[in-house]
Amino acid sequence: MSEKILVIGANGQIGTELVMALRNIHGSDSVIASDINDPGYAIRHSGPYELVNVLDKDNLHHIFDKHRPTQVYLLAAILSAVGEQKPKIAWDLNMTGLLHILDFAVEFKTAKVFWPSSIAVFGPNSPQFHTPQYCVMDPNTVYGFSKLAGERWCEYYFTKHGLDVRSIRYPGLIGWRANPGGGTTDYAVHIFHEALKKGKYQSFLSADTALPMMYMDDAIRATITLMDAPADELTIRSGYNLAGISFTPAQLTAEIQKLMPGFEISYAENDPRQAIADSWPKSIDDGYAQRDWGWKLEYDLADITRDMLTNLKNMI
Ligand SMILES: NC(=O)c1ccc[n+]([C@@H]2O[C@H](COP(=O)([O-])OP(=O)(O)OC[C@H]3O[C@@H](n4cnc5c(N)ncnc54)[C@H](O)[C@@H]3O)[C@@H](O)[C@H]2O)c1
Repeated sequence: MSEKILVIGANGQIGTELVMALRNIHGSDSVIASDINDPGYAIRHSGPYELVNVLDKDNLHHIFDKHRPTQVYLLAAILSAVGEQKPKIAWDLNMTGLLHILDFAVEFKTAKVFWPSSIAVFGPNSPQFHTPQYCVMDPNTVYGFSKLAGERWCEYYFTKHGLDVRSIRYPGLIGWRANPGGGTTDYAVHIFHEALKKGKYQSFLSADTALPMMYMDDAIRATITLMDAPADELTIRSGYNLAGISFTPAQLTAEIQKLMPGFEISYAENDPRQAIADSWPKSIDDGYAQRDWGWKLEYDLADITRDMLTNLKNMI
């Protein structure tokens, strides 16, 4: 069966890269990019595009009816830091948007749905190191509990409606093709831009704040691998833990300084994102992803640093 893939939120940090990866695999015409905003050059000129507001049911119904997607990737969301500034708007977009997609996927018999969760589903009473798939989860950000509730809805639609919905709890993602959208781990992208532009950076997280991170190439590969996995081998329909690699701003700085010895770092005090970071795991156990769909990380911190600096140098 030929695929018709709808990506909603295609202009964002993940969507920009995922759309291009899916178009390479399935062919340009099979992947419909969509977003509430106009697309960037690469997406606009490489395949079909639709303006979509995931909160507008009539608009969304029309898009499902027109394209009859076999797969939907829902990436539209408000992320952790922005979510704390606009809590009700974040809740509405992250929840209502998901429920619209789940309902239309059932109505239009969409074969598979991907919806990303996050390490933000964990909270201050979750184990901080090698956080397991199943444990106490008491997220204290709107973003975090919208993701936790979203996971419950995904599992519910799988159980009650037989909808093949798949999800990953992404760590903080680092990529060079698109800017991050307002999360707590954004420092790990900004630092590379500022290193190349100014030779220095002020981190909004403290030197020793360890967080799980992942290079975008690994995240895209994980997403596509999970979506290609046989349905009967998946034991989790909420969101798979994905460990990535854990490091602190100080460790990332040391790695950048190996390639740019003059790079300087300073640390801001009292940034509201610090409290969010402190409530999240420092490292993750992703044994279920390894076992169920053969997940294996490729990029370590040195690989990420080298790749980011090499690629951004040509863009800045
Ligand atoms: N980037 C990360 O580090 C990270 C980590 C964990 C989970 N995630 C999750 O992955 C998903 C994508 O994240 P991202 O970093 O690409 O986000 P982003 O903020 O970069 O992109 C989101 C996109 O959604 C679009 N959008 C917003 N409202 C919309 C609406 N009403 N209708 C249609 N489109 C709308 C925006 O224009 C934007 O292009 C989100 O669910 C996010 O929570 C991201």
